[in-house]
Amino acid sequence: RWTPRNILEESLDRIRAQVGKDRVLLGLSGGVDSSVVAALLHRAIGDQLVCVFVDNGLLRLGEGDQVMSTFARHMGVRVIRVDAEERFLSRLKGITDPEQKRKIIGNTFIEIFDDEASRLEDVRWLAQGTIYPDVIESAAAKTAKARVIKSHHNVGGLPETMNLRLLEPLRELFKDEVRQLGIELGLPYEMVYRHPFPGPGLGVRVLGEVVRDSLATLRQADHIFIEELRRAGLYDQVSQAFAVFLPVHSVGVVGDNRLYAPVIALRAVETLDFMTARWAHLPYEFLDLVCRRIANEVPNVSRVVYDITGKPPGTIEWE
Ligand code: XMP
Repeated sequence: RWTPRNILEESLDRIRAQVGKDRVLLGLSGGVDSSVVAALLHRAIGDQLVCVFVDNGLLRLGEGDQVMSTFARHMGVRVIRVDAEERFLSRLKGITDPEQKRKIIGNTFIEIFDDEASRLEDVRWLAQGTIYPDVIESAAAKTAKARVIKSHHNVGGLPETMNLRLLEPLRELFKDEVRQLGIELGLPYEMVYRHPFPGPGLGVRVLGEVVRDSLATLRQADHIFIEELRRAGLYDQVSQAFAVFLPVHSVGVVGDNRLYAPVIALRAVETLDFMTARWAHLPYEFLDLVCRRIANEVPNVSRVVYDITGKPPGTIEWE
């Protein structure tokens, strides 16, 4: 029978047979797919797995530490954390076009990953969190993530001497099965049932030029929104929710003072396939609470707006 336990046992056998005593490299992003691959490979081959986690400075509040604590501290997975915030932000300086931002972030990621990979000796395999829908859609290769996968697929970017073979243990699974496998492997529920997060991260949620201060503001606002969604039991009812930093200044008032500051937009959608989506009709009282908290706790935000655009005509992300 097709149960998470069966899938797990079968995957473990297959991985061990395939890999033998070789060492395996995995780019860990903190997303569901790469997290499940990390847990699965760790269970199968223990210390033969080495993960590289690139902190690009475009992650959400506390995300980097959370990845390290789950995998390195709790599970004992070998994770090399690369702090690359400076490198990403300096490359993004002055860049405002969304597609150009995506390209820069993707290329910088590959560059750093390759640097780290070439430093590791006798790694024979590159593991990836490719899942069945990625396989089907790989021809389209629409997202940056797919592009990174593709460029790693032909191993063009990686040092040729390494001659890495590709290991894709989730290749035959649907998202739902990947999640069940994650639970079976003991990953925390909140990690396995997380909303999707785009590869370019907050880089496409700070509209226009990506600068440190804007990222810091966005992180705080986003954290409040997500925290309140969880507290209200609404997180699992929406498919994706996040805050967006708008570099537009509007006038507000704080105490006796006039404030002229950026705007935060909140976005929450319900969808099955992310190809079309409806904006989530969150309760007014809930939106009111989130707005008040952001206004009170996040400095330099003049107002909070809620996005009521469906997809189409809007995309889910703002860039
Ligand atoms: P859109 O904005 O196109 O988003 O309606 C659909 C889904 O894809 C995610 N998304 C991305 N994921 N790299 C990714 O890995 C990207 O460049 C990218 N752009 C959008 C988005 O978060 C949503 O879940």
